[in-house]
Amino acid sequence: MSFRQQPLPPARLNRCQLFGPGSRPALFAKMAASAADVINLDLEDSVAPNDKDQARANIIAAINDVDWGTKTLSVRINGLDTPWWYRDVVDLLEQAGDRLDQIMIPKAGCAADIYAVDALVTAVERAKGRTKPIAFEVIIESAAGICHVEEIAAASPRLQAISLGAADFAASMGMATTGIGGTQENYYMIREGQKYWPDPWHWAQTAIVAACRTHGLLPVDGPFGDFSDPEGFRAQAMRSATLGMVGKWAIHPSQIALANEVFSPSEAAVTEAREILAAMEQAKRDGAGATVYKGRLVDIASIKQAEVTLRQSDLIGA
Ligand code: COA
Ligand code: MG
Repeated sequence: MSFRQQPLPPARLNRCQLFGPGSRPALFAKMAASAADVINLDLEDSVAPNDKDQARANIIAAINDVDWGTKTLSVRINGLDTPWWYRDVVDLLEQAGDRLDQIMIPKAGCAADIYAVDALVTAVERAKGRTKPIAFEVIIESAAGICHVEEIAAASPRLQAISLGAADFAASMGMATTGIGGTQENYYMIREGQKYWPDPWHWAQTAIVAACRTHGLLPVDGPFGDFSDPEGFRAQAMRSATLGMVGKWAIHPSQIALANEVFSPSEAAVTEAREILAAMEQAKRDGAGATVYKGRLVDIASIKQAEVTLRQSDLIGA
C-alpha cells in the first residue's frame, strides 16, 4: 500500500469512441450527430498511403467547419515508424482551430515515443500561440507497448487515455488469429468433453487498466471488428467494463448504442451502490467498519467500489 493517493482520471465520458477514415469526409457530419462521447478522425490505418495528404486536409477543414457539439474530438495520427506523422502533427497544430481536443498516438512502444510527439506539439503550440493544450491518447498495440505500458502511462502530463488495439497487438505478438478482438475459436479449454473459451485479451487489458489507474488515465477497449455480431461485441465490452475499462471503440455506427449501454451503470447498479453507501453510513453510526447488505459482507472498501459506479452515473447525469 502506498501513502500516495491514486489520481482520478479526467472527469469526462469515454463510453464510446467512434472512428471514421479521414478519407471519407461524407461520414463526418454523421459522426458528429452520433451518440458517441469521443470522435476519432483517422489518418492512420483506415487511410490508404496515397490518400494521406487529402485526408489530413479533410480533417483540418472538418475540425473547423463541423459542429462537434460537446464531444471530445480526437485525430489519430500516423505511427512514428511512418514518414507521415510529423506532417500530421504540424499541419493539425498549425491549421486546425481550438476545437481539436486531442491527438491519438498509435503503436506507442516506449515512453520516448510520447516524449517525441510532446516535444513537437509543444514547439508548434508555442510558435502559434495556441492557448488550449492538446491532450494525448495512446494505443497499446504491440509487444513493446505492453511491456512498457507503465512508463508510457507516465510519459506526459498531456496523456488522458490508453486503448488496447487488438488487431496490431495480435500481429505483433504473433498470435494465430486474423480476428479483431473477441472470442478466438482455437483458444479453448476442455473439461469433461465440454469446450470453454477463455479471454485471450485479458492479460493485456488488465496491464493497461493497472497502468492507467496508477497514473490517472482512462483505460479503453479498442475495436471489435465483426460489426455484424452485436452479442460478441456486448460480451467483449462487458468483460472490459468488469475489468475496469471505461469504454470501447466503435468502428461502425451499429456499435455505438451497445457501447453506451454497457459502459453506463444500470439503474439497478446505481440503486445498489446508493444502498451500500446508506448501509455503511448506518454502520458508521453504529461504530462498525463492516455490516451486512443483502446477506453479504460490505465494509469500508465497499464504499470505494460503490463510488466507482456513482461517479460514472454522475458524469452521465451532468
Ligand atoms: N461513422 C458514422 N457513420 C458511418 C460510419 C462511421 N464510421 N461507417 C458507416 N457509416 C454510415 C454509412 O454512411 C451509412 O449511412 P447511411 O445509412 O446514411 O447511408 C450507414 O452508416 C451504414 O453503413 P454501412 O453501409 O453498413 O457501412 P459502410 O460499408 O459504408 O462502411 C466500414 C463500413 C467498416 C468500412 C466503415 O464503417 C468504416 O470505415 N468504419 C471505420 C473504420 C476505421 O476508422 N478504422 C480505424 C479504427 S480500427
Ligand atoms: Mg492499429
